[in-house]
Amino acid sequence: MRQFIIVAREGPTTEEFSLDDLPAAGRVDLLARCVTASLLLSHGLREDVRTHLVLGDEFTIQFESANLRGLHPDERSTAAMIRTALAEREEAIGQIPVEISSGVSLVRMDLDTVLAEVDDPIYRLHPDGTPKAELSPPADAAFVLSNHQEFDEADSATISKHADGEICLGPEAIHADHAIAVAHNWLDTAE
Ligand SMILES: C[S@@+](CC[C@H](N)C(=O)[O-])C[C@H]1O[C@@H](n2cnc3c(N)ncnc32)[C@H](O)[C@@H]1O
Repeated sequence: MRQFIIVAREGPTTEEFSLDDLPAAGRVDLLARCVTASLLLSHGLREDVRTHLVLGDEFTIQFESANLRGLHPDERSTAAMIRTALAEREEAIGQIPVEISSGVSLVRMDLDTVLAEVDDPIYRLHPDGTPKAELSPPADAAFVLSNHQEFDEADSATISKHADGEICLGPEAIHADHAIAVAHNWLDTAE
């Protein structure tokens, strides 16, 4: 399985944001692009991908490609899925996931708990990591990315506790959704 864990400290934790101004809502535009980059191919869904949006270190929205329905390439409809999930935040009690729609769930989990539950090798994606050219592409992997900002100290410490390595995808820092596409391509090409 491939997993992507997108750490969005500034991401929204309530549904109170406008679909008409996604950048103002904790860069939901970028989060939506990360979701589609991780799960969509040109004409359908990838198989065996799980994407976690960790929002404000408080709530996590999980997308499971095996069951996912209704994910489209445009940012607005994906942002609407995020908003619909957050509207159920009061139903997310303990660490029991609330099923929002097929393949989409909301759970009250911080980054530490999400990473503790991941059962694939965990790699932080970072320009300071080991260049991918020096590595064999892993068969299964959970890649951890930040969104538009650098990981803060607390997130870096949490990731270091769980990570099996740190991977650099290329010499330039690129947008998180582009990094997801490069990571997929690396593993696709190896297969
Ligand atoms: C837009 S970048 C974060 C912005 C931050 N100011 C920076 O320059 O690293 C978003 C995330 O994409 C991933 N990323 C971007 N470029 C990368 C690269 N060359 N190798 C590995 N990961 C990368 C990292 O997880 C990074 O934290």
